[in-house]
Amino acid sequence: MKTILITGGTGLIGSKLSLALIAKGYQVRHLSRQPISTAFIKSYYWDIEQNSMDENALIGVDAIIHLAGAGIADKKWTDKRKSEIVNSRVNSTQLLFEYVQKTEQPIASFIAASATGIYPTNPHKLYNENAKAAKDFLGDCCEKWENKIDQFNTLGIRTIKLRTGIVLSKDGGALPKMAKPILAGIGAPIGDGKQWMSWIDEDDLVNMYIYALENNSLNGAYNAVSPHPCSNQNFTEVLAKILNRFIFLPKIPSFFIRLLLGEMAIIVLGSTKVSAEKIIATGFKFNFEKLNESLNKIYHE
Ligand SMILES: NC(=O)c1ccc[n+]([C@@H]2O[C@H](COP(=O)([O-])OP(=O)(O)OC[C@H]3O[C@@H](n4cnc5c(N)ncnc54)[C@H](OP(=O)(O)O)[C@@H]3O)[C@@H](O)[C@H]2O)c1
Repeated sequence: MKTILITGGTGLIGSKLSLALIAKGYQVRHLSRQPISTAFIKSYYWDIEQNSMDENALIGVDAIIHLAGAGIADKKWTDKRKSEIVNSRVNSTQLLFEYVQKTEQPIASFIAASATGIYPTNPHKLYNENAKAAKDFLGDCCEKWENKIDQFNTLGIRTIKLRTGIVLSKDGGALPKMAKPILAGIGAPIGDGKQWMSWIDEDDLVNMYIYALENNSLNGAYNAVSPHPCSNQNFTEVLAKILNRFIFLPKIPSFFIRLLLGEMAIIVLGSTKVSAEKIIATGFKFNFEKLNESLNKIYHE
């Protein structure tokens, strides 16, 4: 039975991934700021600001899955919040690296989240893993995060970065926020509605983490997005249809969104079309390739 240590294991993706790994017979541990152990998951403490963690978390671990990070869209992007978003990712990765190095544990794989926010926003381009990072807050944050992740290569550890798109789940992330106005009868596309949304179904993402864990030939960066990104207008219309609602209001103007969200508006107005070709070429199979398949499963099954 292999032992997997997950950081951010209490979050949206981490909690689903933990259950899926346990169901497959893995031993799962969490590294958390507020450790609460359960019958199936032992949780260990770390304090990223104090640069310390419980070393016992690493003893006997076969692989680390690193998901921890302050929510990108949870709070307004003040200077303080932006530092928190970056530091929670960069410093936590550095802390893990130092402890793995110090404890000399024979860890085989380090699999980490990254985000499609690493790519520039450009409606006319399809981004693959060779593209350069955007020169904006999200691009810069992801680049710093990935540079720290890459250090694990120097220890001879197989290192994977899953550049994740918008994760579709009823339990958190962007989808409930998009569904709320539609359910209230006041949903509408945002901006000109043409901006690309690169999304992935929660179950496909969990499967992709397990696939990365179990396939030793995978190494480096992979986009974790469905092969069918869609425009914001199309997304809004499909979601409304699945929720049995009509969209009758005009699009919400970009200037209003910018006024409301400031720099953070890039999350909803930015257009990033991301390719899933690299992960598909390794043999990975999506169960929910099309938006209506994912949303139908989420809301009707
Ligand atoms: N969900 C998406 O649509 C999406 C898209 C692209 C990329 N990602 C990336 O995938 C990873 C997991 O996403 P998720 O949606 O599962 O995130 P989530 O639900 O927000 O959970 C993240 C976890 O990170 C830990 N955390 C939160 N704030 C922290 C801080 N300030 N310092 C250190 N740890 C902190 C928490 O664990 P404890 O409380 O146990 O410490 C939390 O449960 C994240 O790195 C995220 O950026 C997600």
